Order: sequence, then C-alpha cells, then structure tokens
Amino acid sequence: MTRVGIVGAGWMGHEHAQAWQNNAPHGKVVAVADAAPERARHLAGTLLDGNARVYASLDEMLAAGDLDAVDICLPHHLHAEAILQVARSGVAILCEKPVCTTLDDAAVIRATLAETGTLFMAAHNQLFQPSLIEARRLLVAGTLGRPFIIRSIEAVQNRGFATGKVPIDLGGGESPWAWRADASKMGGGEVLDTGWHATYRLLALADDRPVEVVAMTDRFHVKQLAVEDTGVITVRFASGAIGQILTSWAFAPVGGWHFEVAAQHGSIAGSRTRLVHQLHGWAESVEVANEPVHTFTAEVAHFLDVLQRGAESQATFDHAARVLQVTMAAYASAEAKRVIALPEDPMVPGEPVA
Ligand SMILES: NC(=O)c1ccc[n+]([C@@H]2O[C@H](COP(=O)([O-])OP(=O)(O)OC[C@H]3O[C@@H](n4cnc5c(N)ncnc54)[C@H](O)[C@@H]3O)[C@@H](O)[C@H]2O)c1
Repeated sequence: MTRVGIVGAGWMGHEHAQAWQNNAPHGKVVAVADAAPERARHLAGTLLDGNARVYASLDEMLAAGDLDAVDICLPHHLHAEAILQVARSGVAILCEKPVCTTLDDAAVIRATLAETGTLFMAAHNQLFQPSLIEARRLLVAGTLGRPFIIRSIEAVQNRGFATGKVPIDLGGGESPWAWRADASKMGGGEVLDTGWHATYRLLALADDRPVEVVAMTDRFHVKQLAVEDTGVITVRFASGAIGQILTSWAFAPVGGWHFEVAAQHGSIAGSRTRLVHQLHGWAESVEVANEPVHTFTAEVAHFLDVLQRGAESQATFDHAARVLQVTMAAYASAEAKRVIALPEDPMVPGEPVA
C-alpha cells in the first residue's frame, strides 16, 4: 500500500482524495496539508473519514516522515518549489498541471529529479478518457494510416469566473478562481490552465515531436482576467502533420468533442462518452459509447501501477515539460505574431522562425 500526503486541500485536493479512496487498498491518504487549516480539516473529516493527519504546511507534512508519495494540488506558482522539496525528501510525486510555469524552473526540476532518482508523474487526467485511449490504440496500430490533421479541444463555459462560487463544497476558504485572477500566481492564462489538457491530448494523439507553433489568443468574456480566456494554437509536427488546439473559458463546444483526427484511411472523433470513426468509403460512421469515467481515479490507478509495478508512465516529467514548451511558444507566437520553431530539448524555449 502506498501512503500518500495531499498538499493543497482545495478543489483538486478533494477530487484527488476521492480518487485515492477509489483506489483503496492499493493507496491511502494518510496526511493532508493546506495553508488554510479549515480546508485540510474539511477534507480529512469528510472524504477521508477522519483518518488522515492534518498539517498547516508541506514542510510539516514531510517532517513527519512516513510518506511514500506526495500528491501536489497547489496553485501554479507553488508547484516548482513543492516538487523540489518533495524530491529532496525522497518520496514519489504526483503533481497537478501545469508542472511549473517557466522552462528555467523545468530545467532545475529535471536535474533534481535525476539527481534524487525521484519518480514523478504529471496528473494528466484526460489521458484516461476511454475515447482517447481507444483512438491512440487505433492510431498506433496503424488502422487509420498516417494522421495529417489532429484537433484537440478543451473549452468550458466559465464566464462566472472569480464570482466566489466554489465548484464543490471545500469547507470554506477562497474560491479556486481567486488566485487564477492574479497573474503572478497563475503564471499565464487559460491556455496554461485548461489549455494544458488540450495540449497534452494533442501531443498524445500525434505521438510525434512538435516542431513549430503559431497562435492567436484573446480575452472575449472573462473580464476578471488580465490575460487571455481563449487560445487557438496551430502546431506542426516532425512528420508534417498539423495539429490544432482550441481552448477557452468563453464557451462550451457544441457536441462536447475532445478531439478529431483525419488520417490516410479515415477519420475519428472522441468525447467523454463517445468515439466515432469513419473509414474513407464507408457510407456511415461507427459509434462506440462508453460510460463516463472518473479520470482522476484512473490517473491515480496508473500512478500506483508505475510506482508499485514499474509500469511505463504515460505522463513523465519530459511529457509535461514538452507541454510547457508548446504553451510558452504559443504565448511567444501570439505576442510577436510570429511562427515559433521548437528545439528538440523540451527545456529549451522556441525561437521565432527567420
Ligand atoms: N486536472 C484538472 O481537471 C484540474 C482542475 C482544476 C484544477 N487543477 C489544478 O489543480 C491545482 C490546484 O487548483 P485548484 O482549483 O484545486 O485550486 P484551489 O484554490 O481550490 O486549491 C488550492 C489549495 O492550496 C492551498 N494553498 C495555497 N497556498 C498553499 C501553501 N503555501 N501551502 C499549502 N497549501 C496552500 C489553498 O488554501 C487551497 O486550499 C492547480 O494546479 C490547477 O491547475 C486541475
């Protein structure tokens, strides 16, 4: 059994705690730390049946010294330092997205993970949507032939941003949107936050190295943000395939599609509960439906497989660093109105194409 401590007992802290409970007896939340003690107490007292110890900081939780892993569910600006601290304490890490907010931090984290031999997994929960798993399987098997257009969509209607509403009962405290409205804590805008899911999904579907990025961003409806609420990002892959990321807090997409791939022999599209494919020449498309999955539960199950059984990780540090490199290139492109070329090393920022 893996003994985990959750740091950050807010929205995601609660979601992850439920995921750990769903994975019992292979994992157990034995500690919760939050700078707002009512949050940690609420989480320990409700979802965890009073069975987890409560701490006011990550320092205190690590000092107790009886953890196998830490699950980081903190605001963005605290990720890098928390990862470094946990890595130096010698336990494994599951970390919410984005891994960190600068490529300089990413380079330090990579070196520290290597030096300490720490297992790190990025909490890329959308990788565990059944439609995406099946689409990736069909693409890797070559059933659809070579993909040339790949679209990844992550958009939600979030115009009530920062109104103080909390998505679930967190036991009081600040809204999860409050720190997001502060650019120094957020580290970017919607593209870095919700767009992160669309980006790792695009990279997972392409299974290829991104080589160029061009982007446009804007703020259409979320006036509480000083930065973008929407991004449209085009990515060229080494194979020549073109990817597109569409991400927004300004609207919910019709049909709820997460992705669409056009390939040599046919096309495929997926959502939370549907996968539709149509080979060229088929009169009709074929649809497979699935029950909705609690992707956080599947993510923790995968983390435990990696940690306990040495399974190959679907979301390594380098996967997360590549997402950050694409995201930073998208911001650079939107600002400079230029195409940005991406170096092979994900830790190195892109440069405008001459
Ligand atoms: N995978 C997803 O679908 C998804 C959805 C929402 C959020 N997230 C990610 O989860 C992370 C947390 O976001 P959230 O929405 O849960 O935010 P939140 O505000 O609800 O939770 C953050 C918690 O961290 C605590 N905290 C702040 N500073 C601290 C410190 N120094 N030490 C200890 N605790 C501290 C806060 O009191 C709060 O309880 C972010 O990285 C976010 O991007 C992921």
